[in-house]
Amino acid sequence: MPYRLGWMGGVAFLFMGWLVFAYSSEHKQGDGKRDVAPVENALYRAECGSCHLAYPPGLLPSRSWEKILSGLEEHFGENAELSGELRVELEDYLRKHGADQSSYRRSQKIAASIPAQQMPLRISETAYFRHEHGEHRLVKIPGSGEKISVSRCEQCHPRAEQGFFDEHKLRISSRNR
Ligand code: HEC
Ligand code: HEC
Repeated sequence: MPYRLGWMGGVAFLFMGWLVFAYSSEHKQGDGKRDVAPVENALYRAECGSCHLAYPPGLLPSRSWEKILSGLEEHFGENAELSGELRVELEDYLRKHGADQSSYRRSQKIAASIPAQQMPLRISETAYFRHEHGEHRLVKIPGSGEKISVSRCEQCHPRAEQGFFDEHKLRISSRNR
């Protein structure tokens, strides 16, 4: 009997080892700074995540974020104006966490792909994004027939706010709809 338990224990042990490995290798993406830094600012999440995903700041260079903040009263057809105090705080956060300030590899790639004189206001209009997705403003979620704005990253990248965009974790491919 102890031997049998030993055998099963061994399997359980291996399984647990695998779990630990799977967990840590997933997290290494962040620790190894492969993708984009997660959103970790509560004010940003509250103020800039109410109408859409709180886009991780590492998806655009700091100069783009500053331009976005300076035009909030006319923000893609919406009024997203903030009090001066809130704006200053958000400006500080976004300036420090833009793609050009980041040590995450994908952010560095994004920053490098945008010419210095350009200040794109949309992530979805950068050459980097188009290269990964094509150019259409509306995209079909494969299999569902539903059309959504490409700006709704989280529809296909369920962990977008955590900074994970890795192709292998796409919702559409995992569900295979
Ligand atoms: C009142 C609603 C509202 C608020 C609040 C808001 N936004 Fe937006 N935002 C929009 C809309 C609408 C769009 C266009 C979405 C689309 O085209 O599908 C947009 C688009 C964007 C995009 C471009 C997404 C793309 O296509 O790449 C960025 C970046 C953005 N917002 C940043 C912010 C930031 C930063 C804040 C906080 C200061 C903020 N937004 C607050 C409504 C809002
Ligand atoms: C309709 C689904 C859909 C939406 C919405 C979407 N994506 Fe994607 N994204 C994809 C697919 C599919 C791929 C993989 C493309 C390929 O491999 O050809 C991809 C790839 C990517 C990649 C490259 C991944 C890698 O492993 O190199 C990044 C970064 C990315 N998307 C970011 C975004 C951001 C940021 C947004 C929102 C502004 C967004 N995506 C919106 C479907 C989507």
